[in-house]
Amino acid sequence: MKITVQDVTFSYRSTPSLIGVSLELRESEVLGMIGPNGSGKTTLLKCINKILEPKQGRIILEKQEIKKMNRMEVAKHIGYVPQSSVSNPTPLPVYEIVLMGRRPHITWQSSDKDNAKVWEALKMLDIENLALRDFYELSGGEQQRVLIARSLAQEAKVLLLDEPTSNLDIKHQLEVMDLTRKLVGKGKLAAAIAIHDLNLASRYCDKIVMMKNGKVFAAGDAKDVLSPECIRTVYGVEVTVNFETEIPFIIPVKPLH
Ligand SMILES: Nc1ncnc2c1ncn2[C@@H]1O[C@H](COP(=O)(O)OP(=O)(O)OP(=O)(O)O)[C@@H](O)[C@H]1O
Ligand SMILES: [Mg+2]
Repeated sequence: MKITVQDVTFSYRSTPSLIGVSLELRESEVLGMIGPNGSGKTTLLKCINKILEPKQGRIILEKQEIKKMNRMEVAKHIGYVPQSSVSNPTPLPVYEIVLMGRRPHITWQSSDKDNAKVWEALKMLDIENLALRDFYELSGGEQQRVLIARSLAQEAKVLLLDEPTSNLDIKHQLEVMDLTRKLVGKGKLAAAIAIHDLNLASRYCDKIVMMKNGKVFAAGDAKDVLSPECIRTVYGVEVTVNFETEIPFIIPVKPLH
């Protein structure tokens, strides 16, 4: 399953938040999306998932333009884990949230297969014990793991994860990234992950797209994109990068003024 983004421009208001963005998300690939706050990562993921419609440009899933697909068709192929979830006055059990991921597959009533998929996903994220808890009472990190489980239950071939590790402790950060890598490798999935931790991106992503002010500033292998020069220009931070290890390791030094 491949996604091609061609020359996409999007504006919420008068100033565009995405300007002429092009990229490819290939099968069996984890694509890291990095860039400062407000650089357009979430907006781009929302355009790919058809939550937002670009003013210009095309987004193609395999050979079909996303614009011409309905929401259910998009949901069959694309799983989306948003950056943060909102609170809700009505309690909703974790199990129900994960079962929602099965909606594109359920024709009438949920079947044994749907329930089995939900338990499988809960197990993969190590949250079976949360199944009956109210989702909105969980901690940020627990909620993130539930939403990842939902996208797994969905059996989507493309995973869009918006800062999936931002609320997680160090062990769960590694577990979520490991799991994403394994799923992508095993099931021929494609994953795009917006992420702020440059070292996690370096370690787990096959390709990296670095955004700045709504544009792709650099794209390619970690060793090319995560250079001190690119990081200085895009983030205004001086870093040293150790290229002697197998994957580049970034050490922040100081902000530039
Ligand atoms: N709903 C909205 N209405 C108006 N402007 C918005 C809206 N959402 C985002 N923007 C603007 O669009 C730009 C890109 O925002 P976006 O959320 O895509 O950035 P981001 O790279 O995901 O940032 P972060 O790292 O903080 O999550 C920002 O300038 C932001 O202020
Ligand atoms: Mg964001």
